[in-house]
Amino acid sequence: MTKKIIIAIDGFSSTGKSTIAKQLAKELGYIYVDTGAMYRAVTLYAMQQNYISENHFNLQDLIADLHNISLSFTFNENLGFAEMFLNGTNVEKEIRTIEVSKLVSKVAAISEVRKKLVSEQQEMGKNKGIVMDGRDIGTVVFPNAELKLFMTASADKRATRRYKELLDRGDNVKYEEILRNVQERDRIDSTRKDSPLIKAKDAIEFDNSDMGLKEQFERIMSLVNARI
Ligand code: DC
Repeated sequence: MTKKIIIAIDGFSSTGKSTIAKQLAKELGYIYVDTGAMYRAVTLYAMQQNYISENHFNLQDLIADLHNISLSFTFNENLGFAEMFLNGTNVEKEIRTIEVSKLVSKVAAISEVRKKLVSEQQEMGKNKGIVMDGRDIGTVVFPNAELKLFMTASADKRATRRYKELLDRGDNVKYEEILRNVQERDRIDSTRKDSPLIKAKDAIEFDNSDMGLKEQFERIMSLVNARI
């Protein structure tokens, strides 16, 4: 009889957290939650309501309107993962654009936003059997998670990955713009006051700049097996 655990995966943007998290969830029959998608959906909402753009941010209006934001995930059988819904609309594609990426770290730095999302995330994990990825999962959301992983990779490797993903989607982007965005988000995410991105003391670090996906998955699965 195996026991259900919580697997917390944190790390910088585009370190392959979601790829490994999805694989783990599939292998174990666990729920997978991409918390970055939740911060991105709140950012999209703020853009749609004109609370934020590249040159303005009506912080108080967004905070006052947070109770009108309903976030949910619905599993898509064809894709093999859960898609993000914002107030009942599938926004999976819209939240991945460079425009959202440029503003999301500003929205994610707001304590009121974090409070709302962290409590929703804790609710999703209350029965365990969950793989959650983000920036503060092992430190704030589930400080008692049975397994904590911290993923790193060079900024260049990460920007190259993200660039290829966006090109494959048909987006018109420049590599330099993606690299700048990755570096800028690293800076904001790790220096913000509330829940900055830091490695939890008991997290196991993986630098996957040069590690293949298969090797990484096997190493992580042996850590999981030792805990269930
Ligand atoms: O994982 P991602 O790149 O989709 O995340 C988007 C942004 O959301 C990221 O720049 C920081 C923020 N984020 C956060 O602050 N806390 C989380 N748990 C997840 C994401």
